Amino acid sequence: MVVDNLSNSSAEPLDRVSRLSGSKVTFYELDLRDISNLRQVFRSEAIEAVVHLAGLKSVGESVADPIKYYDNNVGSSVALTTVMSSCDVRTLVFSSSATVYGQADSPEYVESMAVAPANPYGHTKLTIEHLLQDLAGSSQHWRVCALRYFNPVGADESGAIGEDPVGVPANLFPYIAQVAIGKRRCLTVFGNDYATRDGTAVRDYIHVSDLAEGHLAALQKMPPEGNFFSAFNLGVGHGESVLDVIRAFEQASGVAIPYRLAARRPGDLAAYWANPAKAHELFGWRAKRGLQRACEDTWRWQVRNPDGYQSAANGSV
Ligand code: WQD
Repeated sequence: MVVDNLSNSSAEPLDRVSRLSGSKVTFYELDLRDISNLRQVFRSEAIEAVVHLAGLKSVGESVADPIKYYDNNVGSSVALTTVMSSCDVRTLVFSSSATVYGQADSPEYVESMAVAPANPYGHTKLTIEHLLQDLAGSSQHWRVCALRYFNPVGADESGAIGEDPVGVPANLFPYIAQVAIGKRRCLTVFGNDYATRDGTAVRDYIHVSDLAEGHLAALQKMPPEGNFFSAFNLGVGHGESVLDVIRAFEQASGVAIPYRLAARRPGDLAAYWANPAKAHELFGWRAKRGLQRACEDTWRWQVRNPDGYQSAANGSV
């Protein structure tokens, strides 16, 4: 069962999930802050646990409009946990972000490190983690995992579900995919003077299917005792540079990616990646798919859906 206000998405991927999985996905179009209707949903469905993925996620937009981010991200989390409490559902997996760490002494982020987000988006994720930690401390019934994603990339291997950004893509993977398919002329590489092996910035790119498996593992392996809150890194455990990603995508697609070098993007860090040992120790989870696989799956999605989920309406799928 899925609840979404579709502010940044459409219901089409849910139809595709139903088709791929062979089981119908019940969908409620609803904003989580609409407490009375949300309570109705909880009363009419048998819910044991919640995976909370709802939220706005553009760092730049959060700097320009922080109220929108606090209202949407924190407000919806307060509403959701209010309803969960009153309906006796207290098992939650929350979609957090590596953004909570901010500028750190080491590029390998580990959960025991101090957190210091550098932007409003990161502040909202950390504020929600604090809310959930306080809730878990308040009652022996709450069990909560916060999953700190690194850079989610790739698409479902079927080629039927993938990333469909509105307008010009802000992130590296969808931008490269649109250059490869001919929708955009040239990729801009932001910065080639970082202190990294080839001068371009380094990130931990994790395949979305590995991320999905991380959520299932958290739900299945979370300790049964209450008063539980813990945060876990979900990443592959090493970094790849922007030029590594370009090369991998060229290999996966067989298409040369024209790019130009430009100044650093404001706010970008040089390099960071996950130490994912904690998720492995507690959940037995580890990322199985690499960068090459992520590029192949993204390319399959892009070729089959040149206009994203609009492609269905245009008959391209
Ligand atoms: C990756 C690298 C860019 C575009 C991550 C998550 C994102 C978010 C914040 C989630 C960087 C470079 C990019 C381009 C480029 N929130 N780049 N040309 O910034 O690491 O963001 O954290 O919690 O979802 O992905 O990801 O994909 O924007 O950039 O050179 O056109 O690619 O400078 O080094 P980022 P990204």
